Amino acid sequence: MAYPYQIKSLEDYQQQYQQSVIDPEGFWANVADHFYWRRKWDKVLDWNFKDPDVKWFTGGKLNITENCLDRHLGTLGNTPAIIWEPNDPEERHRVITYRDLYNKVCQFANVLKNNGVKKGDRVCIYMGMIPELAIAVLACARIGAIHSVVFGGFSAQSIADRIQDAQASLVITCDGAFRGNKDIPLKSVIDDALIGCPSVKKVIVCTRTRTPVSMIKGRDLWWEDEIKQVETMGNPPCPAEEMDAEDMLFILYTSGSTGKPKGVVHTVGGYMVYANYTFVNTFQYQPGEVYFCTADVGWITGHSYIIYGPLSAGATTLMFEGVPTYPDAGRLWSIVDKFRVNILYTAPTAIRSLMGYGLGPVNHKDLSSLRKLGSVGEPINEEAWHWFKDHIGKGRCPIVDTWWQTETGGIMITPIAGITKEKPGYATLPLPGIQPILVDETGKEVTGNNVNGNLCIKFPWPGMLRTTYGDHERCRTTYFATYENLYFTGDGCLRDEDGYYRITGRVDDVLNVSGHRIGTAEVENAINMHAGVVESAVVGYPHDIKGQGIYAYVITERQTHDPELTKKDILQTVSRIIGPIAKPDKIQFVSGLPKTRSGKIMRRILRKIAEGELDNLGDISTLLDPVVVEEIKRGRL
Ligand code: WTA
Repeated sequence: MAYPYQIKSLEDYQQQYQQSVIDPEGFWANVADHFYWRRKWDKVLDWNFKDPDVKWFTGGKLNITENCLDRHLGTLGNTPAIIWEPNDPEERHRVITYRDLYNKVCQFANVLKNNGVKKGDRVCIYMGMIPELAIAVLACARIGAIHSVVFGGFSAQSIADRIQDAQASLVITCDGAFRGNKDIPLKSVIDDALIGCPSVKKVIVCTRTRTPVSMIKGRDLWWEDEIKQVETMGNPPCPAEEMDAEDMLFILYTSGSTGKPKGVVHTVGGYMVYANYTFVNTFQYQPGEVYFCTADVGWITGHSYIIYGPLSAGATTLMFEGVPTYPDAGRLWSIVDKFRVNILYTAPTAIRSLMGYGLGPVNHKDLSSLRKLGSVGEPINEEAWHWFKDHIGKGRCPIVDTWWQTETGGIMITPIAGITKEKPGYATLPLPGIQPILVDETGKEVTGNNVNGNLCIKFPWPGMLRTTYGDHERCRTTYFATYENLYFTGDGCLRDEDGYYRITGRVDDVLNVSGHRIGTAEVENAINMHAGVVESAVVGYPHDIKGQGIYAYVITERQTHDPELTKKDILQTVSRIIGPIAKPDKIQFVSGLPKTRSGKIMRRILRKIAEGELDNLGDISTLLDPVVVEEIKRGRL
């Protein structure tokens, strides 16, 4: 059997789960034994959630790319590792075998070395969804450089913040990226970003769109030229750097309830074991299956379930450059049809938006190859769940509703495809190794079933974050200080009569817009940058397609003559500071915000108004000036 640790039945799940709680170290050592280690670990786990200080597989030496590439060459050398489908369906797709991928990763790893990149250096990657993105990521891992991938929808300012925080020395980008009918000028965005980033010495630019770019002498290099250099050197091999299990693998920035995004840090050994284990088990991956995850590598889902999980398992992972609605709303189904996709992992927001086009785009597509479906990133409403089940899975494919986070590294609570009895809207049960607990506001455990609480995890798992880059204290206060000895997820959750978990959404000031995590404080800061804005407050509200929309209440210096123009300016400011994904859906100009006597904005009230629950505002007696509430209610959009 390909994966000895693959769960085979519900009884097997229960048994593995029990074992993982009784003897976590033994359990994970058994899984980790099936990887290639240069040197085995001395100790499986050391931990405390107080500092926090968590170490898995201490003393173990390995390189994740030897597990994703080298060890498959003997048996899977000619098997497709990556199938790549371009944005334009008329352009030829690419198939990259494990041998090809190995060669390309080694080649580009040598390019990085030629440009002075060493173990521990930070490399920022800002590219579209082309195979070279996966190659760049793996090349960093091969030489022990720490990658920080930034999603192509972020602005120059956001990239600059991330580069400065990580002190990256090299950037890998493309001339541009194709997404639907858009052509995003990535290199030009990087040029703007780098104005304030002296740490960056080199920029490597991969050709994709042939958008004209300006190249700065001594700093900017073409990917293709650098590859030629390695070829003239006779394509020397690139031995993998020996890494400690707890060396950093990557940084991925994500939004929280306060301040700027923080750099979540994952380390080599534990992350590898966890991404692989969760991939193989959740999707019940069988050798030869074609697996298609529609996420972008700029998010954690792309890291764990386009690159590291599938490749470490020797799977065939399909990477799609474009968007589900281009050239029409049947694109995902055409891809499933074209490549005989067996497993499709996507987001509720995509399903909801495609539902809106009716069954026309689905009909006449052959979806009979599909065996398993997955959902990630936000709560899936029952209507979308059933549509996915009935019209895409034709009633015969299990759906795994996978709950997890950037910080958890991999899937935490999910059905196991075809094994766990599913229930629409429920992430169901924790994977082996995961010990969820619900607590009330005071941190007291909420026991039994049919209960609600804040979702925490009480025991470490290999894929968990180790720190936030450059600021360990922030990691402690954000995740480990709210409740003693628990990792706090920020999510609300209910446990039903069957002990099944249902995630009810964030309980902090983090929004989930089309599956993208956005902090309200970040959006407010961006809005406040606009000249003429005095103050703003941002909340989420239910949105049919995006899950949550962004509602901004804005106080301007004086009455604006042309409110529409001001709104446009504000949207542009947010786009420039964060990126188009953070643009408010609604902007309401107000003369004041509801505040307590101590000056705190009462977001609860603003949230209720945005949700349209005008008669249900709760206690407003502590407000400094209750009159503003009436005005805000009258002006609601
Ligand atoms: C939300 C994405 C309900 C949740 C992998 C979490 C979900 C946040 C689900 C993390 C799900 C993710 N059901 N909510 N299946 N999956 N979430 O870091 O609020 O981008 O805290 O990681 O998305 O978002 P992130």
